[in-house]
Amino acid sequence: MSLIGKVVIVTGASSGIGATTAEAFAKQGSKVVLVGRNEPNLKAAESVCKAANSKAELLAIVADVTVDAERIINSTIDRFGQLDVLVNNAGIFEVGNILDIDVEQFDRIFNTNLRAVFLLTKFAAPHLIKTQGNIVNVSSIAGLRSIRDVSSYCASKAALDQFTRCIALDLAPKKVRVNSVNPGVIVTDIQRRRGLSPKEVDDFYLRSKETHPLGRAGEAKEVADAIIFLASDSSSFITGANLPIDGGITAVCTI
Ligand code: NAI
Repeated sequence: MSLIGKVVIVTGASSGIGATTAEAFAKQGSKVVLVGRNEPNLKAAESVCKAANSKAELLAIVADVTVDAERIINSTIDRFGQLDVLVNNAGIFEVGNILDIDVEQFDRIFNTNLRAVFLLTKFAAPHLIKTQGNIVNVSSIAGLRSIRDVSSYCASKAALDQFTRCIALDLAPKKVRVNSVNPGVIVTDIQRRRGLSPKEVDDFYLRSKETHPLGRAGEAKEVADAIIFLASDSSSFITGANLPIDGGITAVCTI
């Protein structure tokens, strides 16, 4: 599918990977629906899309994916009449040892990283069947590998990967493809959001030089490029895939 004129929803579009992905779709000539909770940040992301392609048709929806899934899909259909691509990018990251974390952390993370994706997928599916569109979920290497003190997040992304594969099978007879990208460490605000100081954030990204075989953390654009690939006809025979965008980190086995 050429992405020109396609209607694409990107959740968590007001920052990081989501904002860069929205911009990448706008550059392709897609009609982009930007979803986020923070109105000023969402408007700023919309302006970046407009600057990338002055002709791009855009819709910004201020919404929380954990409660507004149906409204997000309905508003998109009301405005553009169809849906071609759903990018489930909104996600939260929190850490803590099982001895310290409480069930509220588990519920928060699963509500955002998995339950909201379930709801958006359910409401979007009938529209995606009409257009023979596709879904790209933004998972993580944390879905493919286990990280100490990150159990809730790792489990949510592993569940998301399994959900991706299962829904790929559910919707394959309808010619709707479903895939995920699984980023390694990517430079965004996600580490600051979990409460790290600027120095701790810098140290975290410096460590990526050693942990990632390519010797660096990734950039949001590198994830956005992979999302564009999975959303387009260039990947027309790919469904149910969990694609690492990780500088080789999931290939590593240290002995
Ligand atoms: P980010 O924190 O800049 O972006 C996440 C976005 O999701 C934010 O705009 C946030 O406001 C939004 N969001 C969170 N909960 C929401 C809700 N209930 N409703 C609506 N929007 C909500 O961080 P980043 O890095 O751009 O994260 C995007 C995705 O990439 C997440 O799913 C994350 O788990 C995943 N990821 C990020 C990695 C990284 O190193 N940055 C690595 C692997 C995966």
